[in-house]
Amino acid sequence: MEQKKRVFSGTRPTGRLHLGNYLGMVKGAIELQNRPDLDCLYCVVDLHGITTPYDTKTYASGIRTVVLDYLGAGLDPQKAHILVQSAVGAQHLELAYYFGTIYQVSRLEDLPTYKEKKTQHPDYVNMGLLYYPVLMAADILIYKSPLVPIGQDQEPHLEVTREIARKFNSMFGETFPEPQSFKTNAPIVPSLYGEGKMSKSKGDGIILTSSLEEIKAALAKVPTDSGKGEKFPAEGPLVNLLTFVELFEGHDRAMQYRERYKTTGIKYGELKTELAEAIYKELQPIQERRKYFEDHPQEVNQILKDGAEYARSIADETLKEVRQKMGLAR
Ligand code: TRP
Repeated sequence: MEQKKRVFSGTRPTGRLHLGNYLGMVKGAIELQNRPDLDCLYCVVDLHGITTPYDTKTYASGIRTVVLDYLGAGLDPQKAHILVQSAVGAQHLELAYYFGTIYQVSRLEDLPTYKEKKTQHPDYVNMGLLYYPVLMAADILIYKSPLVPIGQDQEPHLEVTREIARKFNSMFGETFPEPQSFKTNAPIVPSLYGEGKMSKSKGDGIILTSSLEEIKAALAKVPTDSGKGEKFPAEGPLVNLLTFVELFEGHDRAMQYRERYKTTGIKYGELKTELAEAIYKELQPIQERRKYFEDHPQEVNQILKDGAEYARSIADETLKEVRQKMGLAR
Protein backbone atom coordinates (compact mmCIF):
# COMPACT_ATOMS: atom_id res chain seq x y z
CA MET A 1 0.00 0.00 0.00
CA GLU A 2 1.19 3.47 -0.86
CA GLN A 3 2.23 5.39 2.26
CA LYS A 4 -0.19 8.26 2.94
CA LYS A 5 1.32 11.71 3.01
CA ARG A 6 1.74 12.99 6.53
CA VAL A 7 0.67 16.29 7.94
CA PHE A 8 2.08 17.75 11.15
CA SER A 9 1.19 20.91 12.99
CA GLY A 10 1.49 22.27 16.49
CA THR A 11 0.50 25.01 18.88
CA ARG A 12 2.35 26.23 21.96
CA PRO A 13 0.46 25.90 25.25
CA THR A 14 0.89 29.55 26.13
CA GLY A 15 -2.77 30.35 26.67
CA ARG A 16 -6.22 29.67 25.34
CA LEU A 17 -6.76 29.26 21.62
CA HIS A 18 -8.23 32.45 20.20
CA LEU A 19 -9.91 33.28 16.92
CA GLY A 20 -6.51 33.87 15.29
CA ASN A 21 -5.35 30.32 16.09
CA TYR A 22 -8.70 28.94 15.05
CA LEU A 23 -8.93 30.68 11.69
CA GLY A 24 -5.22 30.56 10.89
CA MET A 25 -4.26 27.02 11.83
CA VAL A 26 -7.04 24.89 13.32
CA LYS A 27 -9.45 25.28 10.41
CA GLY A 28 -6.71 24.21 7.98
CA ALA A 29 -5.93 21.25 10.21
CA ILE A 30 -9.59 20.23 10.16
CA GLU A 31 -9.77 20.48 6.39
CA LEU A 32 -6.73 18.25 6.00
CA GLN A 33 -7.85 15.59 8.50
CA ASN A 34 -10.90 15.05 6.27
CA ARG A 35 -8.77 14.10 3.28
CA PRO A 36 -8.43 10.33 2.99
CA ASP A 37 -5.03 10.60 1.30
CA LEU A 38 -3.45 12.25 4.35
CA ASP A 39 -2.30 11.02 7.75
CA CYS A 40 -2.45 13.91 10.21
CA LEU A 41 -0.63 14.48 13.51
CA TYR A 42 -1.61 17.47 15.61
CA CYS A 43 0.49 18.38 18.56
CA VAL A 44 0.66 20.62 21.58
CA VAL A 45 4.31 21.69 21.47
CA ASP A 46 5.12 22.00 25.16
CA LEU A 47 8.88 21.87 24.61
CA HIS A 48 8.63 25.01 22.51
CA GLY A 49 6.47 26.68 25.13
CA ILE A 50 9.21 26.69 27.76
CA THR A 51 11.54 28.88 25.69
CA THR A 52 9.72 31.98 26.94
CA PRO A 53 8.91 32.72 30.61
CA TYR A 54 6.21 30.41 31.99
CA ASP A 55 4.75 29.22 35.27
CA THR A 56 5.72 25.68 36.28
CA LYS A 57 2.67 25.40 38.53
CA THR A 58 0.12 25.97 35.79
CA TYR A 59 1.99 24.68 32.73
CA ALA A 60 0.59 21.13 32.79
CA SER A 61 -2.99 22.35 33.06
CA GLY A 62 -2.27 24.80 30.24
CA ILE A 63 -1.26 21.90 28.01
CA ARG A 64 -4.47 20.11 28.87
CA THR A 65 -6.46 23.25 28.08
CA VAL A 66 -5.07 23.43 24.55
CA VAL A 67 -5.79 19.73 24.04
CA LEU A 68 -9.42 20.41 25.03
CA ASP A 69 -9.53 23.48 22.79
CA TYR A 70 -8.20 21.33 19.92
CA LEU A 71 -10.81 18.62 20.49
CA GLY A 72 -13.56 21.16 20.94
CA ALA A 73 -12.61 22.99 17.77
CA GLY A 74 -13.04 19.78 15.84
CA LEU A 75 -9.66 18.09 15.60
CA ASP A 76 -11.04 14.60 15.50
CA PRO A 77 -9.22 11.66 17.12
CA GLN A 78 -11.05 9.35 14.69
CA LYS A 79 -9.36 11.11 11.79
CA ALA A 80 -6.11 12.49 13.18
CA HIS A 81 -3.54 11.65 15.83
CA ILE A 82 -3.46 14.09 18.70
CA LEU A 83 -0.44 14.25 20.96
CA VAL A 84 1.71 16.27 23.31
CA GLN A 85 5.24 16.88 22.03
CA SER A 86 7.12 15.89 25.18
CA ALA A 87 5.61 12.40 24.91
CA VAL A 88 7.97 11.98 21.93
CA GLY A 89 10.45 14.44 23.39
CA ALA A 90 13.46 12.12 23.26
CA GLN A 91 12.94 11.52 19.56
CA HIS A 92 12.22 15.10 18.52
CA LEU A 93 15.14 16.43 20.55
CA GLU A 94 17.57 13.87 19.19
CA LEU A 95 16.71 14.78 15.61
CA ALA A 96 16.84 18.49 16.47
CA TYR A 97 20.36 17.99 17.79
CA TYR A 98 21.47 16.34 14.55
CA PHE A 99 19.90 19.16 12.54
CA GLY A 100 21.71 21.64 14.78
CA THR A 101 25.02 20.17 13.66
CA ILE A 102 24.33 21.01 10.01
CA TYR A 103 22.75 24.46 10.30
CA GLN A 104 24.32 27.89 10.67
CA VAL A 105 23.93 29.82 13.90
CA SER A 106 23.93 33.14 12.02
CA ARG A 107 20.81 32.19 10.05
CA LEU A 108 18.95 31.52 13.29
CA GLU A 109 20.07 34.80 14.81
CA ASP A 110 18.64 36.64 11.80
CA LEU A 111 15.11 35.27 12.08
CA PRO A 112 12.40 37.86 12.80
CA THR A 113 10.74 35.65 15.41
CA TYR A 114 13.99 35.30 17.36
CA LYS A 115 14.66 39.03 17.22
CA GLU A 116 11.12 39.76 18.37
CA LYS A 117 11.40 37.44 21.37
CA LYS A 118 14.75 38.95 22.26
CA THR A 119 13.16 42.39 22.46
CA GLN A 120 10.13 41.06 24.31
CA HIS A 121 12.13 39.21 26.95
CA PRO A 122 15.63 40.72 27.08
CA ASP A 123 16.41 38.79 30.27
CA TYR A 124 15.33 35.47 28.83
CA VAL A 125 17.45 35.05 25.70
CA ASN A 126 18.24 31.37 26.07
CA MET A 127 19.66 28.62 23.86
CA GLY A 128 16.19 27.11 23.49
CA LEU A 129 14.95 30.27 21.86
CA LEU A 130 17.69 30.18 19.26
CA TYR A 131 17.06 26.48 18.77
CA TYR A 132 13.30 26.93 18.43
CA PRO A 133 13.16 26.69 14.60
CA VAL A 134 15.52 23.70 14.59
CA LEU A 135 13.24 21.81 16.97
CA MET A 136 10.28 22.84 14.84
CA ALA A 137 12.03 21.43 11.77
CA ALA A 138 12.57 18.19 13.70
CA ASP A 139 8.86 18.11 14.69
CA ILE A 140 7.86 18.25 11.06
CA LEU A 141 10.59 16.22 9.41
CA ILE A 142 10.63 13.34 11.88
CA TYR A 143 7.26 12.46 10.30
CA LYS A 144 8.48 13.44 6.83
CA SER A 145 5.46 15.73 6.50
CA PRO A 146 5.32 17.58 3.20
CA LEU A 147 2.36 19.68 4.33
CA VAL A 148 2.01 21.90 7.42
CA PRO A 149 -1.18 23.83 8.23
CA ILE A 150 0.03 27.07 9.83
CA GLY A 151 -0.52 30.80 9.83
CA GLN A 152 1.46 33.26 7.75
CA ASP A 153 3.67 34.27 10.68
CA GLN A 154 5.27 30.82 10.68
CA GLU A 155 6.56 31.04 7.11
CA PRO A 156 10.15 31.96 8.09
CA HIS A 157 10.28 28.88 10.31
CA LEU A 158 9.08 26.72 7.49
CA GLU A 159 11.78 28.17 5.27
CA VAL A 160 14.35 27.04 7.86
CA THR A 161 12.73 23.61 7.80
CA ARG A 162 13.13 23.41 4.03
CA GLU A 163 16.74 24.56 4.21
CA ILE A 164 17.51 21.93 6.82
CA ALA A 165 15.83 19.22 4.74
CA ARG A 166 17.78 20.28 1.65
CA LYS A 167 21.07 20.41 3.50
CA PHE A 168 20.53 17.03 5.13
CA ASN A 169 19.54 15.46 1.83
CA SER A 170 22.58 16.86 0.07
CA MET A 171 24.98 15.76 2.81
CA PHE A 172 23.59 12.35 3.68
CA GLY A 173 21.31 11.31 0.82
CA GLU A 174 17.66 11.88 -0.05
CA THR A 175 15.68 11.52 3.19
CA PHE A 176 13.29 14.40 3.85
CA PRO A 177 10.65 16.30 1.85
CA GLU A 178 10.77 20.11 1.68
CA PRO A 179 7.50 20.95 3.45
CA GLN A 180 5.02 23.55 2.24
CA SER A 181 2.53 25.41 4.38
CA PHE A 182 -1.18 24.85 4.00
CA LYS A 183 -3.08 28.08 4.45
CA THR A 184 -6.71 28.73 5.22
CA ASN A 185 -8.61 31.68 3.72
CA ALA A 186 -7.44 33.65 6.75
CA PRO A 187 -3.71 32.99 7.14
CA ILE A 188 -3.35 36.39 8.79
CA VAL A 189 -6.03 37.24 11.31
CA PRO A 190 -5.73 40.89 12.31
CA SER A 191 -5.82 42.20 15.84
CA LEU A 192 -9.24 43.58 16.70
CA TYR A 193 -7.68 46.65 18.18
CA GLY A 194 -5.52 47.87 15.37
CA GLU A 195 -1.98 46.79 14.79
CA GLY A 196 -0.52 43.54 13.59
CA LYS A 197 -2.00 40.08 13.99
CA MET A 198 -4.34 38.83 16.64
CA SER A 199 -2.30 37.73 19.60
CA LYS A 200 -2.66 36.67 23.16
CA SER A 201 -0.28 39.31 24.41
CA LYS A 202 -2.41 42.13 22.99
CA GLY A 203 -5.38 40.87 24.99
CA ASP A 204 -7.24 40.23 21.81
CA GLY A 205 -10.28 39.02 23.66
CA ILE A 206 -12.12 36.37 21.74
CA ILE A 207 -11.20 32.84 22.72
CA LEU A 208 -12.97 29.64 21.71
CA THR A 209 -14.96 29.51 24.94
CA SER A 210 -16.07 33.14 24.92
CA SER A 211 -19.74 33.70 25.69
CA LEU A 212 -21.93 35.93 23.54
CA GLU A 213 -21.62 38.65 26.18
CA GLU A 214 -17.82 38.41 26.18
CA ILE A 215 -17.70 38.58 22.40
CA LYS A 216 -19.94 41.64 22.46
CA ALA A 217 -17.72 43.25 25.09
CA ALA A 218 -14.58 42.55 23.02
CA LEU A 219 -16.16 44.07 19.91
CA ALA A 220 -17.47 47.06 21.87
CA LYS A 221 -13.86 48.03 22.58
CA VAL A 222 -12.97 48.27 18.89
CA PRO A 223 -12.61 51.97 18.12
CA THR A 224 -14.88 53.31 15.37
CA ASP A 225 -15.50 56.56 13.53
CA SER A 226 -18.69 58.37 12.52
CA GLY A 227 -19.51 55.52 10.15
CA LYS A 228 -19.66 57.71 7.13
CA GLY A 229 -17.19 59.22 4.71
CA GLU A 230 -16.16 59.61 1.11
CA LYS A 231 -13.71 56.77 1.21
CA PHE A 232 -13.53 53.70 3.37
CA PRO A 233 -10.22 53.83 5.29
CA ALA A 234 -7.38 51.75 3.85
CA GLU A 235 -6.25 50.31 7.17
CA GLY A 236 -6.94 50.35 10.89
CA PRO A 237 -9.62 48.95 13.17
CA LEU A 238 -12.50 49.48 10.71
CA VAL A 239 -10.80 47.42 8.05
CA ASN A 240 -10.12 44.75 10.64
CA LEU A 241 -13.71 44.79 11.78
CA LEU A 242 -14.85 44.21 8.21
CA THR A 243 -12.31 41.41 7.87
CA PHE A 244 -14.17 39.68 10.68
CA VAL A 245 -17.51 40.41 9.02
CA GLU A 246 -16.12 38.82 5.87
CA LEU A 247 -14.83 35.76 7.74
CA PHE A 248 -17.99 35.14 9.76
CA GLU A 249 -20.79 36.64 7.66
CA GLY A 250 -19.39 36.38 4.17
CA HIS A 251 -17.98 38.59 1.47
CA ASP A 252 -21.31 40.08 0.37
CA ARG A 253 -22.15 41.40 3.80
CA ALA A 254 -18.73 43.05 4.08
CA MET A 255 -19.20 44.70 0.67
CA GLN A 256 -22.60 46.01 1.72
CA TYR A 257 -21.07 47.73 4.73
CA ARG A 258 -18.36 49.27 2.57
CA GLU A 259 -21.03 50.62 0.29
CA ARG A 260 -23.06 51.93 3.19
CA TYR A 261 -20.06 53.80 4.53
CA LYS A 262 -20.15 55.99 1.44
CA THR A 263 -23.95 56.38 1.38
CA THR A 264 -26.26 55.97 4.35
CA GLY A 265 -23.49 55.38 6.87
CA ILE A 266 -22.74 52.37 9.10
CA LYS A 267 -24.41 51.96 12.47
CA TYR A 268 -21.59 50.29 14.38
CA GLY A 269 -23.81 49.19 17.26
CA GLU A 270 -25.85 47.07 14.90
CA LEU A 271 -22.82 45.84 12.98
CA LYS A 272 -21.13 44.72 16.18
CA THR A 273 -24.21 42.97 17.55
CA GLU A 274 -24.74 41.11 14.30
CA LEU A 275 -21.06 40.17 14.08
CA ALA A 276 -20.98 39.01 17.71
CA GLU A 277 -23.92 36.74 17.02
CA ALA A 278 -22.29 35.31 13.90
CA ILE A 279 -19.07 34.58 15.77
CA TYR A 280 -20.93 33.03 18.67
CA LYS A 281 -22.91 30.82 16.30
CA GLU A 282 -19.65 29.31 15.10
CA LEU A 283 -18.23 28.95 18.62
CA GLN A 284 -21.27 27.39 20.24
CA PRO A 285 -20.88 23.85 18.85
CA ILE A 286 -17.17 24.08 19.67
CA GLN A 287 -18.01 24.87 23.27
CA GLU A 288 -20.45 21.97 23.49
CA ARG A 289 -17.90 19.51 22.11
CA ARG A 290 -15.24 20.87 24.43
CA LYS A 291 -17.53 20.37 27.40
CA TYR A 292 -18.02 16.74 26.43
CA PHE A 293 -14.28 16.10 26.49
CA GLU A 294 -13.84 18.10 29.66
CA ASP A 295 -16.35 15.76 31.29
CA HIS A 296 -14.58 12.64 29.93
CA PRO A 297 -10.95 12.98 31.05
CA GLN A 298 -10.21 9.26 30.65
CA GLU A 299 -11.18 9.44 27.03
CA VAL A 300 -8.83 12.37 26.52
CA ASN A 301 -6.01 10.49 28.26
CA GLN A 302 -6.53 7.57 25.91
CA ILE A 303 -6.54 9.83 22.84
CA LEU A 304 -3.20 11.33 23.88
CA LYS A 305 -1.74 7.93 24.71
CA ASP A 306 -2.71 6.52 21.32
CA GLY A 307 -1.44 9.63 19.56
CA ALA A 308 1.92 9.43 21.31
CA GLU A 309 2.35 5.73 20.61
CA TYR A 310 1.60 6.17 16.95
CA ALA A 311 3.95 9.13 16.68
CA ARG A 312 6.71 7.30 18.50
CA SER A 313 6.59 4.37 16.11
CA ILE A 314 7.16 6.63 13.11
CA ALA A 315 9.71 8.82 14.87
CA ASP A 316 11.80 5.80 15.90
CA GLU A 317 11.90 4.60 12.30
CA THR A 318 13.07 7.98 11.01
CA LEU A 319 15.75 8.22 13.69
CA LYS A 320 17.06 4.79 12.80
CA GLU A 321 17.42 5.85 9.18
CA VAL A 322 19.03 9.17 10.15
CA ARG A 323 21.60 7.59 12.48
CA GLN A 324 22.51 5.14 9.76
CA LYS A 325 22.90 7.83 7.13
CA MET A 326 24.96 10.02 9.45
CA GLY A 327 27.33 7.21 10.29
CA LEU A 328 26.04 6.78 13.83
CA ALA A 329 24.50 3.33 13.53
CA ARG A 330 25.27 1.05 16.43
N1 TRP B 1 6.06 27.75 16.02
C1 TRP B 1 4.69 27.33 16.01
C2 TRP B 1 3.81 28.48 16.54
O1 TRP B 1 4.24 29.28 17.30
C3 TRP B 1 4.45 26.11 16.82
C4 TRP B 1 5.12 24.89 16.27
C5 TRP B 1 6.15 24.19 16.84
C6 TRP B 1 4.78 24.21 15.08
N2 TRP B 1 6.48 23.10 16.06
C7 TRP B 1 5.65 23.09 14.98
C8 TRP B 1 3.84 24.45 14.07
C9 TRP B 1 5.60 22.23 13.88
C10 TRP B 1 3.79 23.58 12.99
C11 TRP B 1 4.64 22.48 12.89
O2 TRP B 1 2.65 28.53 16.22
